[in-house]
Amino acid sequence: MARRKNRLSLFSLNGGQALIIALAMTGMMWLAAHRVAAGTMTIGDFVLINAFMIQLFLPLNFLGFVYREIKGSMANIEKMLQLLDVRPSVNDKPQAPELQPNEASIAFRDVSFHYRPDREILRGVSFTIDSGEKVAVVGASGAGKSTLVKLLFRFYDLSGGSITIGGVDISEVSKHSLRRAIGIVPQDTVLFNDTVLENVRYGDPEASDTEVLEAIRLAHLNGFISQLPDGHQTMVGERGLKLSGGEKQRVAIARTILKRSPILVFDEATSSLDSKSEQAILKALKEVAKGHTSLVIAHRLSTIIDADKIVVLDQGQVVEQGTHDQLLAQRGHYAELWYTQQKEQQKAIAS
Ligand SMILES: Nc1ncnc2c1ncn2[C@@H]1O[C@H](COP(=O)(O)OP(=O)(O)O)[C@@H](O)[C@H]1O
Ligand SMILES: [Mg+2]
Repeated sequence: MARRKNRLSLFSLNGGQALIIALAMTGMMWLAAHRVAAGTMTIGDFVLINAFMIQLFLPLNFLGFVYREIKGSMANIEKMLQLLDVRPSVNDKPQAPELQPNEASIAFRDVSFHYRPDREILRGVSFTIDSGEKVAVVGASGAGKSTLVKLLFRFYDLSGGSITIGGVDISEVSKHSLRRAIGIVPQDTVLFNDTVLENVRYGDPEASDTEVLEAIRLAHLNGFISQLPDGHQTMVGERGLKLSGGEKQRVAIARTILKRSPILVFDEATSSLDSKSEQAILKALKEVAKGHTSLVIAHRLSTIIDADKIVVLDQGQVVEQGTHDQLLAQRGHYAELWYTQQKEQQKAIAS
């Protein structure tokens, strides 16, 4: 709104200014030329008038420029004030204590959730992740897997049930301490237009260079970085434009390693990758996940066979849970998904 008003006022200002100046110039030059022709003025006077006018109009033009700048800044200030007015939808309770994750077990109990009241996304979701375990959540796209992660991060409040970490309800502790306890490798990583090194350091801004380099090594990024023109001082470009999906993902993993949080979450960290990058990343992930409680959301089931527990989500409900072998034996949803993916893979290899 402000931007449009700004454009309109600029348009009338620039247009009006140009018109007035042009008219005045023409008028004065015309008068002066007339006098010269009549012999009452010399050519020197004519040049003098011209010089005076230029001296007069240049500052006038500058005034217009200043006005434009001020208007533009006003529009930006208005936008900023609007942003400052946005209140978070999820608030800490007054004097909420810090989460002390000495025991990083997670429990979803009868969790219900909707973004909008007319459409339930999760219905009575219950499962637990014991400390140090790796639990996978699988299911069709739109089943609500990423929503589970958002709820664990407390981006939204539940409409029913509870989520606890180490037995403590996450809505009772400060958001800050909750989010510090969870490291996430998201589906699409956001990078800043800075060096690779600084992008990794974002996981823990206080980390020393040695710590950052160690994280880079653990994330198997070394090989890639040594090929870059400026090594780890290479700029990644706007939004990490100059990195491939797999490379960005590994930067995200390095960040998470650096953050050293007791709980790790991977939201389809490898689904957008070819199988070679996937293998490299899976190897990195396995090392990182050692000794951590981890929640893995996976599209390709072959990546989570070794999970301690697999939770199958369908349209916001848990339909099955158990280990890979148990679920295959049940011949239910999971078994069906598994055989479909196996067939697809064989087709891909054959073709
Ligand atoms: N911010 C949002 N507002 C409204 N609906 C949403 C929002 N985010 C996701 N959804 C809906 O919730 C459902 C579950 O989404 P999501 O948890 O991302 O699924 P998954 O990760 O399993 O593919 C989808 O149908 C999606 O359209
Ligand atoms: Mg998702």
